[in-house]
Amino acid sequence: MLVMEIARTVEKPQVQIVPAGQKHLYSIASMTERYFPYANFSFDEVKRRVANPYIRYLVAIVGGFTAGFVDFELKEDRGQILGLAVLEEHRGRGIGEMLARSALGEIVESGRQRAELLVAADNAPAISLYEKVGFATVGKTNYQLWGKEATKSVVT
Ligand SMILES: CC(C)(COP(=O)(O)OP(=O)(O)OC[C@H]1O[C@@H](n2cnc3c(N)ncnc32)[C@H](O)[C@@H]1OP(=O)(O)O)[C@@H](O)C(=O)NCCC(=O)NCCS
Repeated sequence: MLVMEIARTVEKPQVQIVPAGQKHLYSIASMTERYFPYANFSFDEVKRRVANPYIRYLVAIVGGFTAGFVDFELKEDRGQILGLAVLEEHRGRGIGEMLARSALGEIVESGRQRAELLVAADNAPAISLYEKVGFATVGKTNYQLWGKEATKSVVT
């Protein structure tokens, strides 16, 4: 007589990182408003940006829902990460890191050897994430994010 059993596994949520399309506009616009209100982007502005070939948006899909996004600009000689956000309920599971690494992958694939970004100097979670994927702080700027001092980071 054989005894057979199967261990119950806790399914890790599947995360897909995909280029943003029309169906993600609402989620991106609402996350932009929530996490980057200083950008002051209207829905139409987000729509224009998503359609702009030099600005790329990637979204993280979890269980069919948009859990986060990253946008970055392909400048002549480098890429610039503009925004990265993950909904609170999906944080701490590596989604932000996946988005950042995917953005860097696309920047490199486009032939650019360098990426940069600005981040508020007191945004410890974001700075830690960016350092984890290879960015290093190269200086401070006078540019203010949320009325706070921003640091400039690059990865090459
Ligand atoms: C920053 C943000 C995108 C991180 O998303 P996330 O999915 O929770 O991040 P991950 O789970 O992928 O974490 C990756 C790394 O980021 C860092 N990190 C993430 N959350 C952190 C926290 N609360 N405190 C410290 N470090 C943190 C860690 O280095 C972590 O690596 P580890 O898990 O090995 O420690 C998310 O907190 C967010 O949306 N914040 C609001 C918007 C924002 O500030 N965006 C960045 C400015 S552009």
